Amino acid sequence: MIKKLMTRPISGLQGTLTVPGDKSLSHRGLILGAISQGTTTLHHFLPAADCLSTLTALQQLGVPIMRDGTTVTIIGQGLRGLTQPKQELDMGNAGTATRLLAGLLAGQSFTTTLVGDASLSQRPMERVRQPLQAMGAKLQLTAGHLPMTIVGQILHGGRTEMQIASAQVKSALILAALQADQPSTIIEKLPTRDHTERLLQQFGGQIETAADQRTITVHPKPVLHGQSLTIPGDFSSAAFFITAATIIPNSHIRLVNVGLNPTRTGLLTIVQRMGGQVTVDQQQQAGEPVGTIDVAYAQLQPVRLTAAEIPAVIDELPLVALLAATADGITTISGAAELRVKETDRIATIVTELQKLGVQITAQPDGFTIDGRKSWHQPTMPLASHGDHRIGMMMAIAALRLAAPSELQTAEAVNISYPTFFEDLARLSQEVPA
Ligand code: S3P
Repeated sequence: MIKKLMTRPISGLQGTLTVPGDKSLSHRGLILGAISQGTTTLHHFLPAADCLSTLTALQQLGVPIMRDGTTVTIIGQGLRGLTQPKQELDMGNAGTATRLLAGLLAGQSFTTTLVGDASLSQRPMERVRQPLQAMGAKLQLTAGHLPMTIVGQILHGGRTEMQIASAQVKSALILAALQADQPSTIIEKLPTRDHTERLLQQFGGQIETAADQRTITVHPKPVLHGQSLTIPGDFSSAAFFITAATIIPNSHIRLVNVGLNPTRTGLLTIVQRMGGQVTVDQQQQAGEPVGTIDVAYAQLQPVRLTAAEIPAVIDELPLVALLAATADGITTISGAAELRVKETDRIATIVTELQKLGVQITAQPDGFTIDGRKSWHQPTMPLASHGDHRIGMMMAIAALRLAAPSELQTAEAVNISYPTFFEDLARLSQEVPA
């Protein structure tokens, strides 16, 4: 689908928006609900393609799940209640679903095969196979990729030191550790999003994180109890509008009920460090912190990002590149080689797309250098998502800086995480009557 993109709204972006539910929490709520006893209800669930892949896979594993819009009811089957699916499980584009289910299915008493779309079939899966194998799991990959066949085994607890900073791999290990014969200790390379840990505690699991924020102990064989949960708005979806309001003159917007888990909100500190006008009001903390974010236009300064800061902003790095492309100087981002194995090689796709606008951006093996001082120009060819939801949405925001209309190819990629993105953007871009 080719989408005609909006141009600069003269009166900026204005208004209040509730973004859709968090993708990471929607996946995890489904999985933990499925292995609990009793009923789980998820409110403000994200009905986007990635989460629907998890929902369908769990149904095929014998879990009754009903969905009515953004409300999902899961009839939990307990940790040992899943059943062998009749066919391969199609994970679509969903990396999170694939890695988390690999950990869960590794300890079951049956064999499952996971397949995915062209992008997911190129993403690395050794990163889950190796540490799970050390726990006794049997995962067969196809040259390091999907299709993946998981032959359920009795798993052993113990100590795992992770080689990469990845919440997906950590969560796979936690889900495997729940089924092991003794406690497990997982040591992260750098702290990553801790949604699985928080949610598992809410469901009654026993999991502790040490003061170093990197050492996690999981106690096996818990009896988890179904919960009624309201999923906060996805910070990664809010991030597109935080960026848009920051780079479009005259903007002032409010984002409500946004998840503010500090392992996710690196963009807020970075925007503030760049001189952005962002204020946060944290209102409630029920498992996950939630709050309101106010954002107004600002002229930005460049920034320097290195490895330790990357996990808390990993999915927002396309937006950091865009912000840097409007800043008064040279920004450098390093320690972000993980971008190369996302839905696309995001270092390559960000550079290709921003260069179409005349942005002075150079790829590095593990990041970028961006000089924001050069003025942009109208693209001479269509912009493209490359099938990557976050690249498509980042370019739709970038196009708001242009004076004349532009086009986005494969715009349907937004359905992976934010099906109502273009409607929400149009709403905030309405001209305010004089
Ligand atoms: C996610 C973890 C991150 C992130 C992805 C969602 C999760 O991936 O990029 O969008 O929900 O655990 P990695 O674990 O590969 O860094």
